[in-house]
Amino acid sequence: MTNTTAGTFLDPRPRAAELRDRVADLMNRDGRPVIIAMCNQKGGVGKTTHTINLAGALAEHGLRVLIVDCDPQGNATTAFKVKRPNPAGFTQSTAVLEVLDAHPLVVQTQVPNIQLLPASIDMALLSSGLRDTGMGLTLYRRMLEPFHGEVDVILLDMRPALDTDTDAQTAAADFAIINVDVDEWAMEGVRLQIAQHKKIMKLVDRDDFDVLGLIIGRVTKPMGAFDREVYDVLRQHPTIPLLGEVPIRSADLKEARHEGLPVVQFRPRCDTAGFFRDIAANAGLVKAA
Ligand SMILES: Nc1ncnc2c1ncn2[C@@H]1O[C@H](COP(=O)(O)OP(=O)(O)O)[C@@H](O)[C@H]1O
Ligand SMILES: [Mg+2]
Repeated sequence: MTNTTAGTFLDPRPRAAELRDRVADLMNRDGRPVIIAMCNQKGGVGKTTHTINLAGALAEHGLRVLIVDCDPQGNATTAFKVKRPNPAGFTQSTAVLEVLDAHPLVVQTQVPNIQLLPASIDMALLSSGLRDTGMGLTLYRRMLEPFHGEVDVILLDMRPALDTDTDAQTAAADFAIINVDVDEWAMEGVRLQIAQHKKIMKLVDRDDFDVLGLIIGRVTKPMGAFDREVYDVLRQHPTIPLLGEVPIRSADLKEARHEGLPVVQFRPRCDTAGFFRDIAANAGLVKAA
């Protein structure tokens, strides 16, 4: 009998190791942080939750993290109990569009190693503002340059869109982490995201960008047969390594959030904290325990 599927399944592990090596190289560069776009054009998949809690796991290892809340809804901002800047004043939008130093906006969170660049509601107009400049793709990268040498990792908590603002954020990143949930359209979403990454990198003439991995969020078990199939396909993606999954853990995550803390700092010994430590290690950002 011929095995017709032979050769169609690529072992993703060598690829995961190669990506971890690249992360290690970037972490050893002088002064320049590793910049990661936490993305998916779908909302409610866990982007913000994963950003906050991955930051917690990195901070625990002594890494200095800057979270940039790129979503006008400002969920990462409010999660850290940080006030959203007045949209009529100096905001992230102003800093990006007018190429001004964003340092005055940055807030120290309750976690010593985590700083936050908050979002404000005027960022809802940022994508059209970036289009108007005609050079929008370069502007997030420029906004982040003054933070080189001050932080080790920058996490961009993106809004659910594929638009000029998310394109500019992607163009500023070394890597993307694609956040998905177990949903019938999840693979289609991943394909769309990768196609968009390719388009952006062609425009900015870069070949060094990569997807660091997938995080499957809001996982419920046991699963029905249909969800199981989607889940298995996501877990065995031929080119994108799985960084980890986060089961539904409403109590830990909500209580931590209520205190304005990542779960790793709020309840270090709970299993939820462990999921995020695993993700940080699988991504090569910290050494495995
Ligand atoms: N693993 C999880 N367990 C329980 N609730 C979760 C989990 N991940 C996310 N949530 C909740 O789901 C909702 C959407 O998550 P969020 O991180 O805001 O997604 P996104 O940023 O992609 O829109 C939020 O209310 C969040 O608290
Ligand atoms: Mg969000």
